[in-house]
Amino acid sequence: MFFLTTAIDYTNGSPHIGHAYEKVLADVIARYRRLRGDEVYFLTGVDQHGQKVQQTAEKEGVSPADFVARTTGKFTALWEKLGVNYDGWAATTDERHKACVRSILTSLKNQGQLYKKSHSGHYSVRQEQFLQDRDRDEAGNFGPEWGEVVEIEEENWYFKLSDHTDWLKSFIESDPAVIIPSFRKSELLNALEKNSGIDLCISRPKERLQWGIEFPFDPNYVTYVWFDALINYISFAGYHAAADSGLPDFDEIWSNRPIHIIGKDILIPAHGIYWLCMLHAMGFSDAQMPRLLVHGFWNSRGGDKMSKSTGNIVDPDLLADQFSTEAVRYYLVRDIVTGKDSDFDMDRLVMLFNTELANELGNLCNRALNMSQRFTGGILHHGGPLTEDDTALQASLTQSIHDYQLAMDEFEISKGLEALSRHIVHCNQYAERMKPWELNKNPENHQRLATVLYHLAESVAHASVLLSPILPDAAAKLAAQINLPSLTTLKLADLHWGLLPDGHLIEKPLPIFPRIITEKP
Ligand code: ME8
Ligand code: MG
Repeated sequence: MFFLTTAIDYTNGSPHIGHAYEKVLADVIARYRRLRGDEVYFLTGVDQHGQKVQQTAEKEGVSPADFVARTTGKFTALWEKLGVNYDGWAATTDERHKACVRSILTSLKNQGQLYKKSHSGHYSVRQEQFLQDRDRDEAGNFGPEWGEVVEIEEENWYFKLSDHTDWLKSFIESDPAVIIPSFRKSELLNALEKNSGIDLCISRPKERLQWGIEFPFDPNYVTYVWFDALINYISFAGYHAAADSGLPDFDEIWSNRPIHIIGKDILIPAHGIYWLCMLHAMGFSDAQMPRLLVHGFWNSRGGDKMSKSTGNIVDPDLLADQFSTEAVRYYLVRDIVTGKDSDFDMDRLVMLFNTELANELGNLCNRALNMSQRFTGGILHHGGPLTEDDTALQASLTQSIHDYQLAMDEFEISKGLEALSRHIVHCNQYAERMKPWELNKNPENHQRLATVLYHLAESVAHASVLLSPILPDAAAKLAAQINLPSLTTLKLADLHWGLLPDGHLIEKPLPIFPRIITEKP
């Protein structure tokens, strides 16, 4: 099983472009892995507990439950709109998740992994956590990222994180595949140095926070939101679940190392330290440890951080209304290198869509399908002897599929799309050199005309398959026009020259990627 998860989004607000990017990226990877022949389970969801949610709900004068129901609806509606097709939905207020968290707390306590102690120190209200000296900046202060910092003394439950950090260090050092891209590994190892000897406070007293999962053995406390949220990856995979829970079979889901897709801000300490140590404490072996695919951030044009306070947040919902779901999905995986940051730029969204889809791919489809309709009655023939141009086109396609697969296997979607684009450009240049519209003028050239049109149409058929993980709806329309009903069952390994048989009848072409017209000249 290829088990793929994303971070679960905080439901204290509306979905933003970073949320949309991560879910589209995961959806593209899930669809690609299916195309590759893997069985895939794609889990995503929402993080609904915690102080931020409690506070925002209070401000709006509604109960936290009503508040998260409303905000969660914005996320599910957006995923529907963007074609994010998940198999499992992780919402942390789900009773099955709460039961799993409680059962993990109980068994960790029975193993001596939890203890209660009083601690007085600095607490960040915004980040909902106690701060350590390592969290101070160079001037010795707690920086603005922590928001309001208050001094409190409190008795709480702690998880013996420090029992597991030596293991974690050697595990990270010895496992080449645990963090993707690998340059993030050194950041994590540095953070581990600073973290040694510190345990993790995993409870919040009910006087401060009610909106959380109650401790099974201490009803005055709820679970720290990160401890709760991280467990989604196993609770919704069926870990400790009742037989009639409707959740999947855990052993099946976790049969290979899962991939957790997360943003760079939640690698340290949440996923890279807490989560791996939690799993280790629960008895997960090294071979069962998830791999972390750490993506970068979308910033504003000019590189500024997008934030509510500066008001430069891009609303993915409005963006899809303005430019189409296709344009948004395409841009989000096309204009960023997985692992790196990128600046969100509307002009580039329009430019990339218009150049690569409307012009290049649109042109190729138009040529292949329209000319086949007009010149050969919509019937494709394999045609006559191959010229050097034909074999070069076939070689370009083979190379393109090869490069696409290499890139997509490494989660490099933009590189995969570039590989596809190269072949489309090659096809259009071929069409311009072969001039089928000229060939059509002389009946003696009919066999040559058929050969040329076949090469273009066959390329469109392949393009619909390669594009399907990224733009599933457009790819399906393309496949329908070229009359390739096998799009849904074809696997990457089935791709070969000759997908369209001799005598194949195509459908009437319709434009799929209408050019985006902007106000500007
Ligand atoms: O961190 N660009 O939730 P969240 C790209 N609930 N990705 C971005 C981004 C941006 N500008 N801003 C945020 C949480 N993200 C926790 C996760 S997982 C057990 C709990 C990414 O709503 C961010 O890195 O703040 C994270 O992966 C995801 O969006 C959810 O962020
Ligand atoms: Mg965040």
